[in-house]
Amino acid sequence: MTKKIAVLSGDGIGPEIVSEALKVLGCLESEFGLKIETEEALIGGAAYDAKGTPFPAETLAIAKEADSILLGAVGGPKWEPLDYSVRPERGLLGLRSELDLFANLRPAVLYPQLVNASTLKPEVVSGLDIMILRELTGGIYFGQPRGRRLNGKGEREGFNTLVYSESEIRRIAHVGFKIAQKRDKRLCSVDKANVLECTELWREVVIEVGKEYPDVTLSHMYVDNAAMQLVRNPKQFDVMLTDNLFGDILSDCAAMLTGSIGMLPSASMDQEGKGMYEPIHGSAPDITGKGIANPIATILSLGMMLRYSFGDMENADRVEKAVISALDLGFRTADIYSEGTQRIGTAEMGDAIVAALRKN
Ligand code: IPM
Ligand code: MG
Repeated sequence: MTKKIAVLSGDGIGPEIVSEALKVLGCLESEFGLKIETEEALIGGAAYDAKGTPFPAETLAIAKEADSILLGAVGGPKWEPLDYSVRPERGLLGLRSELDLFANLRPAVLYPQLVNASTLKPEVVSGLDIMILRELTGGIYFGQPRGRRLNGKGEREGFNTLVYSESEIRRIAHVGFKIAQKRDKRLCSVDKANVLECTELWREVVIEVGKEYPDVTLSHMYVDNAAMQLVRNPKQFDVMLTDNLFGDILSDCAAMLTGSIGMLPSASMDQEGKGMYEPIHGSAPDITGKGIANPIATILSLGMMLRYSFGDMENADRVEKAVISALDLGFRTADIYSEGTQRIGTAEMGDAIVAALRKN
């Protein structure tokens, strides 16, 4: 059956990297019988410029109707002076929230070819394979009340609310334990239970849910320690379960273990497995338009879509193998370049991956 993919390129390097993922998709269609229909829609700053809102109703409708969503990146300095309510990020957060994409999978895998691209010592990162599971539709990102006001002294004050209901914690915890069951059966839940009541509840509920998964070893770690352990000895982790904010921070940190933030894909899923797939990096305004961005995170996100939303393991494997082949051949974008390899641009990397796909 033909699957429909909503393509939301967004801002900055978004369109450049999404183009490369579409090349890969095109090759899967022409060579391997994948049946796909794509529909493009505006999101973020691009949507604001064209329609006056970062999250047009039409985009939500297209995303809702599609079987899956591929997203590039949103945001950039151009839109930073805007009010929060119309910032590009609102478009992304709106999609996550409206589609109830609460489970965000962020795998951090170090490809052996890139062991020298990481700023960490090879022995610390080689063989790294962590899954960060980030809660994506709750916590301080969405908690009310929020805003800015004048306090009693006439001073400006900013405030946000960290809030999680039991059911929100429970549903993400179940996803975490299920993922751990398919991996090394270890789940480390990250919190700040020594200071924040909300995360004390988080820990309590995760322990309760854990009773249903006796085959998974559950541990708990304060977020500050988790940040340190990620750079000290990252291979101690199998699955890390985090709230929205901690996962945002720790996944950027984990990205550097893999050589570059340009390598990390992500999947954001709802309860039924419908998903939005995007690289974890941002719109990278500093390199926009230069043709040097790394498209691999986006191409691997497409691989995750095939695997998780479409259950198409064969084509998902093909995409991952093609990425590995291109790396094996020594091709590198600037962010993962190291001596003795060949530095190429965004489009060349897309072409190299497509060529490898054809060959394999
Ligand atoms: C991410 C990004 C987003 C987030 C931004 C762009 C709103 O940093 O997906 O990690 O904070 O969730
Ligand atoms: Mg982030």
